[in-house]
Amino acid sequence: MGDDLRSVLITKEQIDARLAELASGIDEAYGGRELLLVGVLKGAVMVMADLARALSSPVTMDWMAVSSYGAGTQSSGVVRILKDLDTDIKGKDVLIVEDIIDSGLTLSWLLSNLGSREPASLGVCTLLRKPDAAKVDIDVRWVGFDIPSEFVVGYGLDYAEKYRNLPFVGTLAPHVYGG
Ligand code: XMP
Ligand code: MG
Repeated sequence: MGDDLRSVLITKEQIDARLAELASGIDEAYGGRELLLVGVLKGAVMVMADLARALSSPVTMDWMAVSSYGAGTQSSGVVRILKDLDTDIKGKDVLIVEDIIDSGLTLSWLLSNLGSREPASLGVCTLLRKPDAAKVDIDVRWVGFDIPSEFVVGYGLDYAEKYRNLPFVGTLAPHVYGG
């Protein structure tokens, strides 16, 4: 896996199996209703692609890009819309698809922003969740994996835009980010 990665945290097989479980739970919960999946760029690209294909429910997809992190590994605490949705979500069953919830700051902001657009329902599915997310009062129904508070890359997640294409989730060697 090269010198930059320390270890594989979650394998491709584990991700596939977990997304299949989440998809069947989501299918059941929405009872065949059409779902609008809102992916959060860029990290959620892989989760979106694989989750969408694992679902039996009819889906449409839209994307938002927000910034909460710079090129480093620390939250700036500032959320900014870089790209808004193309579609009106009023009256729709919306499921936010996220790669990772860390401080929960991005998600809290997204929930209030999208919630104000009057969707019929607003849910969240995230592949990964870190322990800090428990400190904020947000109800995330669909969580792939609870992981330790370590910086992870792969499967959509980047460090300085690299490693998004890894098929697994791995931890970065400290020397890569100066740790
Ligand atoms: P918050 O703290 O707002 O963070 O819940 C959500 C966003 O922060 C990024 N993030 C990470 N990106 N490896 C990454 O590549 C990580 O370990 C990590 N932790 C947080 C990510 O963009 C996420 O959407
Ligand atoms: Mg993200």
